[in-house]
Amino acid sequence: MNEMPRPIPSQAERYAGEGEAFVKVEDLKVRFVSRDATVRAVNGVSFELARGEVLCVIGESGSGKSVMMRSLLRLHPPKRTVIEGRMLVGGHDIGAVDERTMSSLRGSTISMIFQEPMTALDPLYTIGDQIAETVMRHEKLGRKAAWARALELLELVRVPSAERRLKAYPHELSGGLRQRAMIAVALSCRPGLLLADEPTTALDASVQIQVLVLLRKLQRDMGMSMIFVTHDLGVAAQVADKVAVMYAGRIIEHGAARDVLVHPQHPYTRAMLSSTIKDRHKAGPLGAIGGSPPDLRALPEGCSFAPRCPYAGPECLPAMPAPVVGADGHTARCVRTEVVDGVLEFRPGTALPA
Ligand SMILES: Nc1ncnc2c1ncn2[C@@H]1O[C@H](COP(=O)(O)OP(=O)(O)OP(=O)(O)O)[C@@H](O)[C@H]1O
Ligand SMILES: [Mg+2]
Repeated sequence: MNEMPRPIPSQAERYAGEGEAFVKVEDLKVRFVSRDATVRAVNGVSFELARGEVLCVIGESGSGKSVMMRSLLRLHPPKRTVIEGRMLVGGHDIGAVDERTMSSLRGSTISMIFQEPMTALDPLYTIGDQIAETVMRHEKLGRKAAWARALELLELVRVPSAERRLKAYPHELSGGLRQRAMIAVALSCRPGLLLADEPTTALDASVQIQVLVLLRKLQRDMGMSMIFVTHDLGVAAQVADKVAVMYAGRIIEHGAARDVLVHPQHPYTRAMLSSTIKDRHKAGPLGAIGGSPPDLRALPEGCSFAPRCPYAGPECLPAMPAPVVGADGHTARCVRTEVVDGVLEFRPGTALPA
């Protein structure tokens, strides 16, 4: 295969707000309202991401990871969704911009890759058409320049025989190549923020690793910020600068990847990681925990993990604990966590008798 083409700088790299976080999410709340119930899917999420940083979001199924990601692209059905809080990406206030601005931000400033490429690629158009069309729409390039960019992108994502593959339809490609084509579409306008929602779980293990290594390289070369959802601890350890652990629509632990994955402090994170504690840096799914997550239609007043937590006591019940903040922004929302010499430390205390 040819040499990798030179990287294309992303919008994050060119973002003027030097020293500012490229992504700033403040107290985001998302609820879905229907006649029968209100589902509180995201319940006060805050985080910041610098240019070129990768945040991995982990947590059980239903913890609000995808809902949080989709909010950044404003993809929820507007009539049934109530969104509160603030999301700033590259200086754009996602909740406040008009629909026209939002559609120009989608795919250009903020882009998303999905678990199943067939949901993102149009079966009726060739790969080349899909990339070129995105480039022409966002960057006002002519057809010829857009096709040249499409070829460059397929080479960048290391699709072999890229020129021939430009004329292929999605169903003519293998799963791994389709995933690469979708990444090419997502990168086509050099987004500042790439959202990746379990982008490799549908692939075979060896292809997963290849795609992951490629994605990490492109992210670094282009200086993109990235939010990456995974169920795989090994993937999080390989890809993340920061890790956020979600539970019932809240970030219950957050910090530098090494702090959260090697020295987890929240009982939920500790339980989730414990089954793979010896092989933390090897690939493998997160550990299962007894009990079930709370019903998002009727969240408890206090700590939402308390009903499953072996260390829960009466002090956990009145309200969700505020984040306890240690050095390097390591935070955990647990009353049993203290800051000792600047470092978070879990103090089990006395558990309630069963
Ligand atoms: N449009 C919607 N209307 C009502 N409820 C929704 C909607 N979208 C998501 N939910 C609910 O919000 C909660 C969070 O869902 P979400 O898809 O974010 O979970 P997740 O953490 O991504 O899980 P997984 O790991 O399985 O992908 C779930 O209870 C889900 O059923
Ligand atoms: Mg999801």
